[in-house]
Amino acid sequence: MKKITIAIDGYSSCGKSTMAKNLAREIGYIYIDSGAMYRAVTLYSLQKGFFTEKGIETEALKAAMPDIHISFRLNPETQRPMTFLNGTNVEEAIRSMEVSSHVSPVAALGFVREALVKQQQEMGKAKGIVMDGRDIGTVVFPDAELKIFVTASAAIRAQRRYDELRSKGQEASYEKILENVEERDRIDQTREVSPLRQADDAILLDNSHMSIAEQKQWLTEKFQAAING
Ligand code: DC
Repeated sequence: MKKITIAIDGYSSCGKSTMAKNLAREIGYIYIDSGAMYRAVTLYSLQKGFFTEKGIETEALKAAMPDIHISFRLNPETQRPMTFLNGTNVEEAIRSMEVSSHVSPVAALGFVREALVKQQQEMGKAKGIVMDGRDIGTVVFPDAELKIFVTASAAIRAQRRYDELRSKGQEASYEKILENVEERDRIDQTREVSPLRQADDAILLDNSHMSIAEQKQWLTEKFQAAING
């Protein structure tokens, strides 16, 4: 069967990675979480002390970019994707509040985006890929056969992230998370390089009041239509 490219973009914590992961597993495609790559660069910057009171030391990060190697592997037991930074499994570390609250300025840097977009395009060369992020349908794969743009209200997205952190046993404050979600929306939409926006040919999905099963069914239908079209 012919393989296509599927781009799933949208706001932070809107459940797009759950949708994308489920679809990829169902149809046997590779799944790539592009946000995890921006998070890994952020974790690296935190570890190296690139964040100062004045902001991020861009020159130091620029010089370090060739030393940052990001890869993905499937957990053989859970079949969940794990993110590796220079050979270390950082899947949990990149989801911390500390990384979440430092990632937007890193994702706004042109040289970071350029390097990661190149790697993402390389990963998708053979098609048969589901990638989620902010600029997948607009910049990374403008020719993707199926593009989805996911949205949900900020309050619902904050609640989902809160539940996710708590289910992993992590401390979390709903108010702080909501603040972080709104702040990231603002930065993601107003940044100069590749701001978050819906591609003209993307299908909009507001999943505020949809269950995971409903979203899965909706997406499977869109996939079937794209593959037959
Ligand atoms: O989807 P996420 O919350 O894990 O993304 C983390 C950050 O990375 C978020 O602030 C937006 C940014 N990002 C981006 O700018 N472009 C992408 N393709 C994916 C994520």
